Amino acid sequence: MKYKRILLKLSGESLMGAKQFGIDNDKITSYAKQIKELHATGVEIAIVIGGGNIFRGVQAEQGGMDRTHGDYMGMLATMINSMALQAALEAIQVETRLQSAIEMKEICEPFVRRKAVRHLEKGRVVIFGAGTGNPFFTTDSAASLRAIEINAEVILKGTRVDGIYTADPEKDKTATKYSHITFDEVYSKGLNVMDLTAFTLCKENNLPIIVFDMDTPGTLYKVLTEEHIGTIVQN
Ligand code: GTP
Repeated sequence: MKYKRILLKLSGESLMGAKQFGIDNDKITSYAKQIKELHATGVEIAIVIGGGNIFRGVQAEQGGMDRTHGDYMGMLATMINSMALQAALEAIQVETRLQSAIEMKEICEPFVRRKAVRHLEKGRVVIFGAGTGNPFFTTDSAASLRAIEINAEVILKGTRVDGIYTADPEKDKTATKYSHITFDEVYSKGLNVMDLTAFTLCKENNLPIIVFDMDTPGTLYKVLTEEHIGTIVQN
């Protein structure tokens, strides 16, 4: 295996599958199976999941709601997804622990870095819910922050596309995929990998990001076993 400890960032929106809202059971089960396949190899896995399938802070602001209020609602949305993913993993016998950045002790443990690391060492998949616990930060920032805190060697960012392209491949048929790219090239070419807060945190802490297609079963495993799956961003 290329890495011993990884942080997997999943998109909330992709949990919708073909639905307009919420969680598609087949989709979350398929994600859980991919995670189980990787977990079985002994790789330590932490996960951060977004909440866009349920609520987005930015959308609330457009509707006239205070941004801070909307962001807290978004953090709660990530908890719903985190709990659903925890249930999907445990249904297929993968041991998990869920930690929340906002204390909700009847539901799960609070985020405690040292405890999270201990869980990983014991082979449990650790899910970090409620983002960073602060408004004005995205779940990509939460993923970067938690990855650095737990000394993950890489962030695996699961998306609908299989890497970073010269242009949006859904709009421009001539777009080509990068297999490697540096953080500085991403800045200078204005490519959209993560928001800049999250991205800069990775660059400054020398944490590589691999963007890959999470929607094709088996790809998560291949990212750690095969060369040239997805796009790797590094210094
Ligand atoms: P070790 O004993 O250190 O290996 O870890 P453990 O997670 O098995 O022990 P612990 O006794 O801390 O937790 C047992 C279960 O209770 C786990 O499912 C935890 O996620 C859960 N748990 C721990 N702390 C809390 C909490 O504050 N609130 C909630 N709701 N659950 C918790």
